[in-house]
Amino acid sequence: MADRSRWACRWRGIIGGASHSGNRRFPGGLGRASGGNRRARLLDSDIRNIVCSDPINTWNEMEPMPERRKLIAGNWKMNGLHAAGLELATDLSKRLAAAGTVGFDMLVCPPATLIHPVAQAVAGTPLAVGGQDCHVKPSGAHTGDISAAMLVDAGCAFVIVGHSERRQNHGEDDALVAAKAAAAHAAGLIAIICVGETLEQREAGQALDVVASQVAGSIPSRADAANTVIAYEPVWAIGTGKTATSADVAEVHAHVRATLAGRIGDPDAVRILYGGSVKPSNAAELMAVDHVDGALVGGASLIADDFWGIAETCR
Ligand code: PGA
Repeated sequence: MADRSRWACRWRGIIGGASHSGNRRFPGGLGRASGGNRRARLLDSDIRNIVCSDPINTWNEMEPMPERRKLIAGNWKMNGLHAAGLELATDLSKRLAAAGTVGFDMLVCPPATLIHPVAQAVAGTPLAVGGQDCHVKPSGAHTGDISAAMLVDAGCAFVIVGHSERRQNHGEDDALVAAKAAAAHAAGLIAIICVGETLEQREAGQALDVVASQVAGSIPSRADAANTVIAYEPVWAIGTGKTATSADVAEVHAHVRATLAGRIGDPDAVRILYGGSVKPSNAAELMAVDHVDGALVGGASLIADDFWGIAETCR
């Protein structure tokens, strides 16, 4: 009953247009950083205009009820030459445009060589473009690296940091990932911070601790729901065809959400993606799990029908 009166109160407040002094943010999220911020500001002012004068009002004790718009992100990894990459991105952007209003944001993260042409090809459409990594410095003598400012310059709104392939193959630790996320924020990018346990860690019963520790160590100061997305990707499920069960995913995502409290602005509004062998056949079940706010997709993001099929489960 108490919960119901809270909900009722909330809606009466909104409809009545009275005021509430709370400062809750509902970033939701659009494809591009500026759009997301604009939305956050609008919703801030909407919320500030709410009052609930009802004496039974328990609004102040309410949990925030964030609107977390799903994010379907494609990580192309080291795949795609010019013609095929452009064809894939253009195909997706046309499907998005034809679909009209949808319940998800869509992002592709091509290899560095394709970021600019892909961004140009999809400019003016809702399809967002991201990088797969960035350096902690804005410029300098770092052969082979790419800075967050360069990603912005090439047309990116997002960047993936701390992917397990970077952590494993390039020795990246939480502190470096946090520094990369901070560099991304400083450049105006939304950082998708990846975490996930190995098979050995899961089998040793350490999955929750490992993931919580990665989350805590990889989030920089000044992170909030508007500039940060978390992606839970169990290492053993990446590119293997093995997917975590819904129960496993639910457990880890709830734990990630709890870990975010006190470590990031608007923890309840932060989007937490699941990644690891997501495909059209398992997406609906995964996307329905509590605290799963989208997907980070590798292999299946290289095939327009498959990637679109995953996104359509969030339509
Ligand atoms: P996968 O990759 O979908 O091919 O398992 C996911 C990822 O590495 O982000």
